[in-house]
Amino acid sequence: MIIKVEAMIREEKLEDVLDALAALDVHGMTCYQVMGCGTQRGFKEYAYVRGHQQVEIQMLPKIKIEVLVSSEEWEKKTIDAIQKAAYTGNIGDGKIFSYDVREAMRIRTKETGYDAIQPE
Ligand SMILES: Nc1ncnc2c1ncn2[C@@H]1O[C@H](COP(=O)(O)OP(=O)(O)OP(=O)(O)O)[C@@H](O)[C@H]1O
Ligand SMILES: [Mg+2]
Repeated sequence: MIIKVEAMIREEKLEDVLDALAALDVHGMTCYQVMGCGTQRGFKEYAYVRGHQQVEIQMLPKIKIEVLVSSEEWEKKTIDAIQKAAYTGNIGDGKIFSYDVREAMRIRTKETGYDAIQPE
């Protein structure tokens, strides 16, 4: 079983989330700088938004983190660690999604599945 946990978090929370994932002994992840919006469509999140009154959706910078884990137990631990580390209690703290992954391969060794995402 391989599960992808994907989190959109505040940029300023990246270090805290990375520390939390390192403490969980996570071995491998991908981070992106992304633009996005949630239920407020990008408004109300900050006291000041650019003066585009005619724009109904505002995209705001976030960090996206993807971690592949090998069980539902680790999915839960990973989601929990990210939630705690990324939390401020304010609108725009982010979202966490998880998905089943069909396959993974370590290119160098051609290992697949569970072996591909475990440290050697
Ligand atoms: N429905 C969605 N589909 C895809 N991405 C989403 C969705 N909702 C949120 N996101 C992503 O998560 C980021 C953070 O969303 P955000 O924290 O504002 O969610 P929210 O549901 O509005 O919660 P809150 O009310 O706490 O702001 C967005 O910038 C976007 O990248
Ligand atoms: Mg929001």
